[in-house]
Amino acid sequence: MITENDLELISSVISLSDALFSSRPEKKCDIAAAPLLRASPEKEEDNITAAITDTSVSLQNIARKISSCSRCRLCGGRKNTVPGIGVPNPLVLVIGEGPGADEDATGEPFVGKAGQLLDKMLAAICLSRKTNCFIANIVKCRPPNNRDPQQDEADACRSFLDAQISVLKPKLILTLGRIAVQNLLNTTTGINRLRGQFFEYKGIPLLPTYHPSALLRNEDLKRPAWEDLKVFRSRLEEMTGCSFDPKAQGGSSVK
Ligand code: URA
Repeated sequence: MITENDLELISSVISLSDALFSSRPEKKCDIAAAPLLRASPEKEEDNITAAITDTSVSLQNIARKISSCSRCRLCGGRKNTVPGIGVPNPLVLVIGEGPGADEDATGEPFVGKAGQLLDKMLAAICLSRKTNCFIANIVKCRPPNNRDPQQDEADACRSFLDAQISVLKPKLILTLGRIAVQNLLNTTTGINRLRGQFFEYKGIPLLPTYHPSALLRNEDLKRPAWEDLKVFRSRLEEMTGCSFDPKAQGGSSVK
């Protein structure tokens, strides 16, 4: 459950961020990323719509393949596959570990308590699965008893994530927790050493931070996680020239 304490901490770190980022750009951002297409002005809108439709179809095809996948043992215990959710032209791809019970029941990633906290973390930097993010996982089926995905399971699922990345073409990747970053960067270095700095995956800047479940277990991780999000926000602002401060977006976070 998200406690009063969580909400207080999030609003206090947002205020802290105001003080720290007083010289950030003020321009409001159309925070949904538009696909970059070369087109004559009158055809541009049609082309953008067509590109988004193509992307959505490709994502649906990947999701269909995932739904019939039996490449690893996780297919035996699933109720639903959990391919991912979000906009087809995201600025940011958020990558978690794998579905839990709530996600297995619904087929949607990050819908339990950790998902509610994730949505608040993203909203604190004007990101949302509804407007400018896509959320996916390393494995698309629930590991039994929420254990960590095993290496062969992660490896078997990797081409689905890679296909999603090549269709989505996110500008930035945010990974949550140890499993996601270790798999993508092919490293055994721990999350405490990796978090808060940029790496690259397939040429896309990637920043690891703590998993929201870890923040729910250990309050002390919330402050460093916010520091990571501020680093991520600075890069978003550099890239777009827009503010990703909810207050600059009219005082409220992204709907
Ligand atoms: N934790 C994850 O890593 N992914 C989910 O989808 C839900 C919880």
